This record gives sequence, structure tokens and C-alpha cells, in this order.
Amino acid sequence: MRGVGAILRRGAGDLNTRRDVSSWLARWFPRTPVRSVVALKTPIKVELVAGKTYRWCVCGRSKKQPFCDGSHFFQRTGLSPLKFKAQETRTVALCTCKATQRPPYCDGTHRSERVQKAEVGSPL
Ligand code: FES
Repeated sequence: MRGVGAILRRGAGDLNTRRDVSSWLARWFPRTPVRSVVALKTPIKVELVAGKTYRWCVCGRSKKQPFCDGSHFFQRTGLSPLKFKAQETRTVALCTCKATQRPPYCDGTHRSERVQKAEVGSPL
């Protein structure tokens, strides 16, 4: 039978034991982000409303392309969506190949051989 002293000593030991949270952090917030994947090979036309904030999917894993659905977090990509505010109400073509040089807008990169040869769902 353990005495009160033993229990108190054990409790104090637990308090002094440093919890290792680094493995948990590395799992949910990887230091090296994974690469974006090609979601589609053509842009999606969307009507943006002036003053409204949008979150454009950077990782390419969203099921609600071209916008973020939180998949970047649940698949632990280490990537974040691009938040932007529409300056005016207009229809724009938003990139879904994730290779554009002027995100979130399409710049025609999806027509390149590099994107056209890539598999949907794989990185460039
Ligand atoms: S789901 Fe792709 S950035 Fe959020």
C-alpha cells in the first residue's frame, strides 16, 4: 500500500515532467509545407461582389474550387488560403491549376505543357 507521501511525490514528479508537445505540433503544423496540387486544368469564372472577402484555395485540395473549404488544414499541408477583398463587382477567372503568377487570378499558365501534362490532384 502506498502512502500519502508516495502519492504526493509522484504528483510532484508529474508536474516537473515536461510534456513533449513538439510531436503534436509537427503533426498538425508541419514546418515544410507540402506543394500545391493541380485542382483543375481550366480556370473557374466567378462573380465577385465589391467589398466581400474571399479565401482562394492555395493547396488545390479543396472540393469547393476555387475557394478554400478547410482541406489544407485537415490534410496538414502547412499551406493557407489567400484572403482577398474584391474591389469591384465583376466576373473574373480564378486559377485552379495553382500555377498562376498573379494569384488568385488566371494568367493563362494552365495552357502550358507543364500543367497540361500534370495529373489532376498531383503537384507540378
Ligand atoms: S483548402 Fe486549399 S487552401 Fe484551404
